[in-house]
Amino acid sequence: MAVAHPTARAGLALIASLLLLECLGCDANRQRLDTAPLAKSAAQRDAVSSEALSPDDLAADDLSADVSSSGRFARPTTLGGPIGGLDAAQLALFFGGRAEFEEEETIEDGLGPVFNEAACVTCHNAPVGGTNGRAETRFGRLDGDDFDPLADLGGSLIQDHAIGLVGSGGNTFLYVPEVVPSAATVTARRITTSLFGLGLVDAVADETFVELAERQARMSPSTRGTPNLVTEIRTGATRVGRFGWKAQVPTLHQFSGDAYLNEMGITNPEFPDENPPQGNHDALAFNPVPTINDDGEAVAKFRDFMTLLGPPPRGPRSGHTAVGGVVFRKIGCANCHTPTLVTGDSPIAALSHKAFQPFSDFLLHNMGTLGDGIVQGRSTGSQMRTAPLWGLSSRPVLLHDGRARTPEAAILEHRGQGRDARDRFTRLDARERVALLAFLGSL
Ligand code: HEC
Ligand code: HEC
Repeated sequence: MAVAHPTARAGLALIASLLLLECLGCDANRQRLDTAPLAKSAAQRDAVSSEALSPDDLAADDLSADVSSSGRFARPTTLGGPIGGLDAAQLALFFGGRAEFEEEETIEDGLGPVFNEAACVTCHNAPVGGTNGRAETRFGRLDGDDFDPLADLGGSLIQDHAIGLVGSGGNTFLYVPEVVPSAATVTARRITTSLFGLGLVDAVADETFVELAERQARMSPSTRGTPNLVTEIRTGATRVGRFGWKAQVPTLHQFSGDAYLNEMGITNPEFPDENPPQGNHDALAFNPVPTINDDGEAVAKFRDFMTLLGPPPRGPRSGHTAVGGVVFRKIGCANCHTPTLVTGDSPIAALSHKAFQPFSDFLLHNMGTLGDGIVQGRSTGSQMRTAPLWGLSSRPVLLHDGRARTPEAAILEHRGQGRDARDRFTRLDARERVALLAFLGSL
């Protein structure tokens, strides 16, 4: 986004005057959030509070500081490159994982019988690990308040490709792509998200998200978020979900296995059961590779690539973008699009106790009719995960169904808990609006 020669002094004066204004995004009335399911022990609380960094330490400088030059912050390199600070062995894991991520599976490898694409990179590309905006379809049926994902009919995720004719002689079967069945009352499109920096999100402790939700309930109750609590298959534990448009998956490891099965039809240790095409279990009798397709090795490689994939580098800053950052906070965008998070312990030094700037709380918010109507985990149909805004300018289309082509259009679609911020955006004067959009363009 082109920024028209702002003078630094004018920018600073405007920042000063904006800071004097009341924080419109903060609510006057304060209340507590019940977090019984994940209540922490005193020891865990101490562990959190003794961390070197807390969001409070960073509140003052997190929107304007040159984050890449500070050792407290995770280090981006180039878009699509590995995170800064890796050793040679970790770099080898990154590049080995990326090669697996780009590999096309074949029917002999176990692709299908129904699938969406033959490689992760077919959707997560431009550059590798990003998104080319490829959409997929989910469906379900709403009976009163009950949501049925119609698993018996192949739901909720459609596989829009199939391996076609298999077998020979009189014993053949034709696998065809799935379609939305007539029993469905809800159909949703979801676009591919980009994966940059997600190793950092993976390394955030569950308690950090729970505390963030508690803080929101006190400071900005009308826009407070909710953690999506989901099961981690590997351990059986209840974890805070953070990946996917509904924060429906707790770890990159689990998403790797999930995507390998549900996008490509490759069964693997945590996802051992093939998807019956359109829900038809009998059709699996003709599955050309009925044994488990991946022993977990490829799943681990996808995970390693995504874990080490760097966050998007920030664009150039100016007095203009600094003003935009203040406006962002003032009108309440930062209530959900949390600028800075801090990771917990990680065996990878580049990811351990690092601050980073995703501009998301990874919590669920009620977005009214912008919600996609699909229920997943504890997420209701109208709740969506706050979309992270880092790397915004690298994405071809915005919002879960890709309905917005510009950040401004995306803001104007905010409803439910996002409506007040949207309305404040529409009341900005031209200068503040341009500054806010310049700021978003710099993320
Ligand atoms: C057909 C396109 C497609 C393919 C192929 C695909 N993905 Fe995705 N990916 C998506 C979409 C769409 C989403 C959003 C899913 C949702 O929330 O419903 C997504 C989300 C993700 C996320 C969550 C990111 C976030 O923002 O939280 C991860 C991780 C991921 N994919 C990894 C993979 C891996 C690993 C592979 C290969 C095994 C893969 N994907 C293959 C389309 C695809
Ligand atoms: C109540 C929480 C909340 C507030 C307040 C909020 N947002 Fe959002 N924002 C979301 C959610 C949730 C999404 C994802 C919506 C969806 O699924 O399509 C989103 C999506 C976006 C997107 C699209 C990102 C993408 O990759 O698709 C942009 C841009 C955005 N918000 C900017 C803003 C700005 C600027 C403000 C302040 C005017 C703001 N938001 C206020 C919750 C919020």
